[in-house]
Amino acid sequence: MTSAAFDFASVLAEGLPAAAAKWTGFPKYNFVGGHNDAEQVPVDDLMAAAAAVLAREGSTLATYGLNSGPLGYRPLRDFLVAKLRRDAGIICSADEILITSGSLQAIDLVNGVLLTRGDTVLIEEATYGGALSRFARLGVNAVGTPLDNEGLRLDALEAALESHKRRGIRPKYIYTIPTVQNPTGTIMGEPRRRALLDLAHRYGVPIFEDDCYADLIWDGRRPPALYAMSEGSGVIHIGSFSKSVAPALRVGYIVAGWDVLSRMLALKTDAGSGALEQMVLGEYCTRHFHDHIPLLRRALRAKLEVLMEALSEHFGTAAEFDDPKGGIFLWVKLPDMVDTQRLAQAALAAGVAINPGREWSADAAYGMSRLRLCFAHPASATLRQGIAVLADVCRREFGVPTRSANVERRATT
Ligand SMILES: Cc1ncc(COP(=O)(O)O)c(C=O)c1O
Repeated sequence: MTSAAFDFASVLAEGLPAAAAKWTGFPKYNFVGGHNDAEQVPVDDLMAAAAAVLAREGSTLATYGLNSGPLGYRPLRDFLVAKLRRDAGIICSADEILITSGSLQAIDLVNGVLLTRGDTVLIEEATYGGALSRFARLGVNAVGTPLDNEGLRLDALEAALESHKRRGIRPKYIYTIPTVQNPTGTIMGEPRRRALLDLAHRYGVPIFEDDCYADLIWDGRRPPALYAMSEGSGVIHIGSFSKSVAPALRVGYIVAGWDVLSRMLALKTDAGSGALEQMVLGEYCTRHFHDHIPLLRRALRAKLEVLMEALSEHFGTAAEFDDPKGGIFLWVKLPDMVDTQRLAQAALAAGVAINPGREWSADAAYGMSRLRLCFAHPASATLRQGIAVLADVCRREFGVPTRSANVERRATT
């Protein structure tokens, strides 16, 4: 029997997510996802690293886990021990780091050991869509907390903790992206981090710290990680090489005490994440990571400037946004009558892909007229053209911005 003749629909497991759509190529103006700047992928140095590490240690590919055991390639974990100590103040050993297949697998493992259907987690009002879709799939109640220009608002968080406590609910964790928040681009300062830790400790709720953009702060001034400030107690920290080197490599990591890391390791049943990527990164990062990052930051900042200029030119005051402190995203508020879900559909038909705010928000009403733009991947000229097309679509669908850039320019000169 050929597989085409067999009806798999009749034997599918229950509760599967909707079927994936076939990939039909990137849209012309691609502002979605977390893609990085193609010109900043350090191809030559990665090639040299691959050649060097394979010549030296290639035969270790004969074993699952290389010769490093199930936590991941030891030189890469050693690099992370030194990097996290220098950049984030984290003092940990290589045995407190688990290398994962992207930090998405890290999120799955953290959720796997902590969450059961019906549980509650506290999250940021605007947050990572990949985390939100997981909560929905797991049947977990994700409660949003408002943000300000330093991230989580602790008065609101305390009120939420207190109200859950009164109802006998202990949230399983507080999920936060404290360093270059996705999507808002804010950084939580050290005093607020201290107060957050105190608050979480008082209510007996652990913190899940997702720090995957922390290398991309424009001025490089990274506050100590929550994990560092808590000395590892009550915090799980995850990070990634997706934003600092390349997302297609699919290498992330978890930093946690052995009490909980050992439970995650037992759930990681893939017999190890891709070994070549880990070897190449271990070799590359030890030599080049800290020289590469300032170049990447500069290139990203330049693209952000282009995007902000294009938005001002084509949307005028209709597009409100704060200049993010780093990263690859701009979080934009359009006038209330713009439903960005509908805008996203109409824009896609014109070749422009955007992330509607609702998919990045705990609260649909809050996200409704917001959108997230990833500026890292398109070339500068494409960024400009894409925003011009988006403004045209938005005007056609919603009447804003009221006038095109050209008309406005004519009117003012
Ligand atoms: C906040 C956050 N966490 C985790 C991820 C997952 O990234 P990766 O699996 O590529 O490490 C992303 C990707 O965009 C993200 O924005």
